[in-house]
Amino acid sequence: MAASAAGSTAFHLFEPKADHSAVCCGASDHAMTAPSPYSANDFFRHSGLNQPTIDLRELESMAASKLDPAIYSYISGGAGDSAAANLAAWEQFRLRPRMLRDVTNVSTVSRVLGDQTAAPIIIAPTAMHRLVLPAGELATARAAARAGVTYVVSMAATTAIEEISQAAPDGRHWMQAYIRRDRGITRACLERAAAAGCQAVVLTVDSPGTPSYRSRPGESLNRGLPLPNLAPDQSRPDVLSVAADYAADLTFEDLDDVRGWTNLPLVVKGILRGDDAVRCLDSGADAIAVSNHGGRQVPGCIPTAMALQDVVDAVAGRGDIYVDGGIRTGADVLKALALGATAVMVGRPILWGLAVGEESGAFAVLEQLRADLSRLMAQCGIPDISCVSADLVRLAR
Ligand SMILES: Cc1cc2nc3c(=O)[nH]c(=O)nc-3n(C[C@H](O)[C@H](O)[C@H](O)COP(=O)(O)O)c2cc1C
Repeated sequence: MAASAAGSTAFHLFEPKADHSAVCCGASDHAMTAPSPYSANDFFRHSGLNQPTIDLRELESMAASKLDPAIYSYISGGAGDSAAANLAAWEQFRLRPRMLRDVTNVSTVSRVLGDQTAAPIIIAPTAMHRLVLPAGELATARAAARAGVTYVVSMAATTAIEEISQAAPDGRHWMQAYIRRDRGITRACLERAAAAGCQAVVLTVDSPGTPSYRSRPGESLNRGLPLPNLAPDQSRPDVLSVAADYAADLTFEDLDDVRGWTNLPLVVKGILRGDDAVRCLDSGADAIAVSNHGGRQVPGCIPTAMALQDVVDAVAGRGDIYVDGGIRTGADVLKALALGATAVMVGRPILWGLAVGEESGAFAVLEQLRADLSRLMAQCGIPDISCVSADLVRLAR
């Protein structure tokens, strides 16, 4: 009974679009032609009805076979073993299910920055979705709106924030920003985002002027695609040159400045320590995103699952806490919530979904996570998100 209650929504989750067979990646010009064993259409139709639902490892390998190898490598890349460590760290925590609780009705509805969301899941900002499919960020925005979750639009998006907002007027969009050395560029972007209806600013502070990725010689990573939020005045910007222009002299005082530029709530992303989190809140931040950029920046970095507790303790209820890095299953989401996160953010799986199944693929990833969380909540005796508490997890010895 509990399982059917939790899983009841799953049956209509994965309807493929009629034209879904036209799966492409944006890089269809340069997509690898190796035939996949079955189509994305089959993949999404046959997944999700019962356990096991979409296997994200399988989705990743389908994305790998569809994308230009250089683009796939950009998406999957990490610094040392830090991306792998993020994944492994969630496994270190084990769930302690509660029994004999009434779980006839299970709800994943929760709140982020005070607004209701269908699930405590947020699309993390990732750059340049038009490298993955032609509709790029417009498809992501529509998928997020359909799934009822927030989409954090990267400042390095290949679509203007105004167009993204228009494509999904009912969607909830937060604008991610980097501080450019010329602060005026960032400020202008945030003003445009507010005018376009974005509901929060996510300031990423873990990338001080040193791009962690190198493109192949003679090849521009963004392949001539525009960066209308990050470099609005350049017709053919090179994303890595622009990233080298992110401010290296960033300090907590910049948070005060950002506060002065916008009335929107401010989330600081890229925090891994409690002392930093407190200083962000003292400098005007409303929420903290515990993140190591998907393990892409610092080799040997603490995994986010292990950094979370320190931040939760230090923040002590003063604001929302989000966490990302290696969130792949409902169990990961539940563990993050039990450790004190308000919601999780998901990066690479959305890009794999877009690559394999366009808008429906990204939607399927989101719904998969939500349905998996719902099913697991029933199995752990948790009717709603407010019942999640720290006793639900234990660190394995
Ligand atoms: C291809 C790619 C591009 C990214 N671009 C950005 C970005 O533009 N801004 C940002 O704040 N974080 C960026 N990130 C980091 C994500 O927001 C997020 O922290 C990370 O992907 C979470 O880990 P996961 O991919 O394991 O879910 C990027 C990550 C990837 C994989």
